[in-house]
Amino acid sequence: MAFLLLDEFQIIFNNYLDRRLKEISCEKEFNDLLGYTPQSGGKRLRPYIIYLLSNALGLPQAVYMELGLGVELFHSGSLIQDDLPSLDNDDFRRGRPSLHKYCGEGSAMLIADYLMLYPGKIFLALPLSAKAILNLLKLWYEASLQVIEGEFFDVNIMAKKMGEIEKVHRLKTASLFGFCFSAPFVCAERFLEAFEMNKAGIDFGRAFQIFDDIKDKLGKSETLGKTPGKDEAQNRPSILKHMKVEDAKGYAERLYSKALEKIKQNEVRKALITVRELIEEH
Ligand code: IPE
Ligand code: IPE
Ligand code: MG
Ligand code: MG
Repeated sequence: MAFLLLDEFQIIFNNYLDRRLKEISCEKEFNDLLGYTPQSGGKRLRPYIIYLLSNALGLPQAVYMELGLGVELFHSGSLIQDDLPSLDNDDFRRGRPSLHKYCGEGSAMLIADYLMLYPGKIFLALPLSAKAILNLLKLWYEASLQVIEGEFFDVNIMAKKMGEIEKVHRLKTASLFGFCFSAPFVCAERFLEAFEMNKAGIDFGRAFQIFDDIKDKLGKSETLGKTPGKDEAQNRPSILKHMKVEDAKGYAERLYSKALEKIKQNEVRKALITVRELIEEH
């Protein structure tokens, strides 16, 4: 089965997102703010992973596009929250002023809340059996609540030792990748594999956050679309407090490979090998 490349998928996903966002609310002012961050770009890696695995499992488009939409809306909401002055205080996101710079903090917080709560509504309406939906929602609430918990530990700089930093990575970032790897299997009612794939997704997400820590140290704002150097300036629990860049890169690459080894679908594995370079740069 042939799979779309990430840049091909991005076009289709972005069109879908535009259309679905319009349906969410008819109040123009609210709708414009809801779309501001989700429609600013972004790699769309999480929906892409869902697309790849769903396609390999033969799930219909009506399922995987909605799953990807839910995850991407939540992720965009978490980025709005992460950038707030009382959290990371970043004025830029996805190459544009952060939402709070555009509409003020109060509105940005409410839009983030809305985007992070909305996926529950999307997942409840999926054309799946009640058993699949129930298991999906269980997985969703576990993963999405962990993101908030991880952000709490990150912001309050409660992680100092290597193991504690890795725990923050697991919670704030890897849990959502665990969901992306696992959700297609839950939807296909392949629950045992879903459990194994969740673990693979968590390793993938840990690698992803280590690459993010490296980009924060070495990246340029033009490529990242956000402000680099914030982890050191704000004394955040970056893996680079414990490892040299080269060692951290090697560690992330090993975790990345370990995650991909668990994927039995060859085409999916190949597609995810090709996106690693993009993840390391953007
Ligand atoms: C950034 O995620 C936040 C982290 C979890 C490190 P992405 O790097 O996927 O951001 P976008 O979606 O491409 O903007
Ligand atoms: C990423 O936190 C995790 C979430 C947004 C939940 P970071 O603070 O490390 O991400 P960037 O570097 O701002 O994208
Ligand atoms: Mg942060
Ligand atoms: Mg941040």
